[in-house]
Amino acid sequence: MTEQGATMDAPARTETAKPHLPDAQTVTQVTHWTDRLFSFRVTRPRSLRFRSGEFVMIGLLGDNGKPLLRAYSIASPAWDEELEFYSIKVPDGPLTSKLQHIQPGDEIILRPKPVGTLVHDALLPGKRLWFLATGTGLAPFASLMREPETYEKYDQVIMMHTCREVAELEYGRQLVESLKDDPLIGELVGDKLLYYPTTTREPFHHMGRVTDNLTSGKVFADLGLPPMNREEDRAMVCGSLAFNIDVKKILEDFGLTEGANSDPQQFVVEKAFVGDGI
Ligand SMILES: Cc1cc2nc3c(=O)[nH]c(=O)nc-3n(C[C@H](O)[C@H](O)[C@H](O)COP(=O)(O)OP(=O)(O)OC[C@H]3O[C@@H](n4cnc5c(N)ncnc54)[C@H](O)[C@@H]3O)c2cc1C
Ligand SMILES: NC(=O)c1ccc[n+]([C@@H]2O[C@H](COP(=O)([O-])OP(=O)(O)OC[C@H]3O[C@@H](n4cnc5c(N)ncnc54)[C@H](OP(=O)(O)O)[C@@H]3O)[C@@H](O)[C@H]2O)c1
Repeated sequence: MTEQGATMDAPARTETAKPHLPDAQTVTQVTHWTDRLFSFRVTRPRSLRFRSGEFVMIGLLGDNGKPLLRAYSIASPAWDEELEFYSIKVPDGPLTSKLQHIQPGDEIILRPKPVGTLVHDALLPGKRLWFLATGTGLAPFASLMREPETYEKYDQVIMMHTCREVAELEYGRQLVESLKDDPLIGELVGDKLLYYPTTTREPFHHMGRVTDNLTSGKVFADLGLPPMNREEDRAMVCGSLAFNIDVKKILEDFGLTEGANSDPQQFVVEKAFVGDGI
């Protein structure tokens, strides 16, 4: 991903390099997308198994010498040799005010205990799978869009991603673009993935909130799809609390029921972050 973001790659790692932090992993690549968004890749613990869409706790040592950890969706798919994360930069955020300065070769802490509801097992079989995200809520879908099971299980996969400004869509845009020619998954993806990015505060070819584009029927008309229905459509939702609440109501109005790992149904929801203001 070098088209727009400024990417730094790690120098070749030597076998003698030893982690110094507890549960340490080494940063291999960092890309800054905007002054509020960056992505990075780290080495993957050999023992770490996870399902695409899950999250883990990652962080750095705080000033008090204790681990300062936050929940992060793994943005890379389960088959990837490394782990990728897509992150906000909160100016005064305890973790991200520091994390945004990591460079290849640095270490982060990664607790290898993946969990989460945005997993295929939490949904009943269906025809179409909708990924509905705002902001960094794209991260779990960056994983699931690269997961073969996504295309084996569904005829069509629709990625709706909404941000305030065009530049905030770029990480997702380049990821979707790269899938077509991906030697591992390109053929499986074929023309199954429909990408529907929108902005709300800067002119773009498609605009409007996910919620408005669902309730007005605009997204169905634009993509040539029938309105969502309980028999065929499945959805995964990841955004702010307000977004999740509003989308949940809309999905329920379409007749879909919320599920969980222990009770698979038609849609699942996870918060992209806790709190509602920076
Ligand atoms: C299940 C789960 C998965 C998460 N996955 C990711 C992820 O993949 N990428 C990511 O960047 N963050 C993710 N987060 C948020 C993350 O845990 C931290 O909140 C974030 O890294 C900021 O940490 P901080 O210590 O700098 O600030 P915090 O003290 O944690 O947050 C300060 C304030 O910043 C705002 N904020 C925090 N995170 C975000 C965000 N992602 N987008 C917009 N505003 C935000 C909120 O208003 C919050 O109150 C996730 C949170 C949860 C609960
Ligand atoms: N993005 C920025 O440029 C920026 C810059 C500085 C500070 N911040 C602060 O950072 C925090 C997070 O900003 P963010 O842009 O990442 O997230 P956000 O405010 O949740 O907005 C992300 C996208 O989600 C939409 N949205 C918000 N609530 C929704 C809902 N209930 N239903 C449907 N769509 C909804 C927004 O549309 P609307 O535009 O219509 O709200 C926007 O397109 C905010 O507190 C913000 O003040 C953001």
